[in-house]
Amino acid sequence: MGFGSNVRIAPVAKLAPIRKAVVPAAGLGTRFLPTTKAVPKELLPILDKPMIQYGVEELADAGVEHVVLVTSHGKEGLAQFFRPSPELEQRLFDGGAVELAEMVRGISSLAHITTVVQEQQLGLGHAVLTAKESIGDEPFIVVLPDDVIVGDVPVSRQMLEVHQRYGASVVAVQEVTREAVGSYGVVDAHEVGKGIYKVRGLVEKPAPEDAPSNLAVVGRYILMPEVFSCLERTSPGAISEIQLTDGMGLLLEEQPMYALRFEGTRYDGGTPLGLLKASLEVALNREDTRDRTLEIIRNLDLEQP
Ligand code: G1P
Repeated sequence: MGFGSNVRIAPVAKLAPIRKAVVPAAGLGTRFLPTTKAVPKELLPILDKPMIQYGVEELADAGVEHVVLVTSHGKEGLAQFFRPSPELEQRLFDGGAVELAEMVRGISSLAHITTVVQEQQLGLGHAVLTAKESIGDEPFIVVLPDDVIVGDVPVSRQMLEVHQRYGASVVAVQEVTREAVGSYGVVDAHEVGKGIYKVRGLVEKPAPEDAPSNLAVVGRYILMPEVFSCLERTSPGAISEIQLTDGMGLLLEEQPMYALRFEGTRYDGGTPLGLLKASLEVALNREDTRDRTLEIIRNLDLEQP
């Protein structure tokens, strides 16, 4: 996917056994209030492109055809974003803005997008379970849109390779500091290949002294469909929510699971400062915005208190 604003790598046919994905996007976005009174958090931009578009582009690149957005009431703008906008396209064409018109059209053709509404925010595991009927009995990818990951090879594609090799669930991990483990799901795992780990256990938001490692789960999962019956049996865990991590812990009792220390840069789009950092780095990495961004940074008044 790289840093380019609308660059897409052609899907690799041999890596396309997974057709469906779930994108949980039902949260209130309290860290972004007051904006999120009216705008779903997932539509906030990194430089000039909504966070969720990065995730759906990554899925389309990995060969996914059907994306199930898990939303909540008041977030209708998310589905709307992915619907065709023929009037807007026509006006752009008529005004000579052909590239813009094509960019707009490209968004609605990324994938077949459907939504399911999570009536109550009972946790990430519950959000994924809400998509059970839409996914059915096949492996699927989960992308958490807050976790924006850029790099030469999109992370979902990296994970597909591991999934194909082992025929099992795969979770993306990155090393974090001991102090940071409490914000993540953490795996207990041993390395079986370069950056590939066999998972022995998972724990959601552990205290640093209880963490089995410093390998933290970031928001990418390839899950076998049996995870749904596990999620149905999952009781509320950390912060009293039905955790995906706990459901995966049950799945692990039935079948193997792998973790991939992926290559790429992950941004935390879930906080205003994370979003600011992401925008700055993307702007610095893009040819059309790099020089002006450097100039802005150099001219910042750093003496201000
Ligand atoms: C969620 C998951 C957690 C994962 C994290 C990645 O936590 O529950 O396991 O490590 O996303 O961003 P949240 O950020 O919703 O607290």
